[in-house]
Amino acid sequence: MNRIDFLKQVGGLSLFTACGATTALLNSCTKSYYINASIKNDAVSLNKTDFFEREFVVINNPELEFPVYVYKKNEVDYVALSMKCTHKGCQLKPAGKILVCPCHGSEFSNTGKVMTPPADVDLKQYATSVINDQVLVILK
Ligand code: FES
Repeated sequence: MNRIDFLKQVGGLSLFTACGATTALLNSCTKSYYINASIKNDAVSLNKTDFFEREFVVINNPELEFPVYVYKKNEVDYVALSMKCTHKGCQLKPAGKILVCPCHGSEFSNTGKVMTPPADVDLKQYATSVINDQVLVILK
């Protein structure tokens, strides 16, 4: 094997390990969609169209201690979760269908359940409701 073939093989291997070696890593290749939403009366209103061809969006707002991950289960059922890790409070990262903590490796399902310790408490969940084409996330 010559040097160029070697580099191609190593480069291909790096790409494989970064985006395809495990389910978690594969999921981490999914893009996140961030929405800078305004808060009115302790609630955020999203459009259903924000979820077009997406399973989740992330709400950002300077008034929030941590962003909020909103997962679309189906047209009428959404799950809104604080992205604060319940172990020591680091901000979670969306990784496809799960949320991963960069500090100590805890993993949570897209419904907030602990999948991998050291965290042993599920994520804080916010109430949601669907009114016509709006998804309301209540932040109390
Ligand atoms: Fe998230 Fe420790 S702060 S696993």
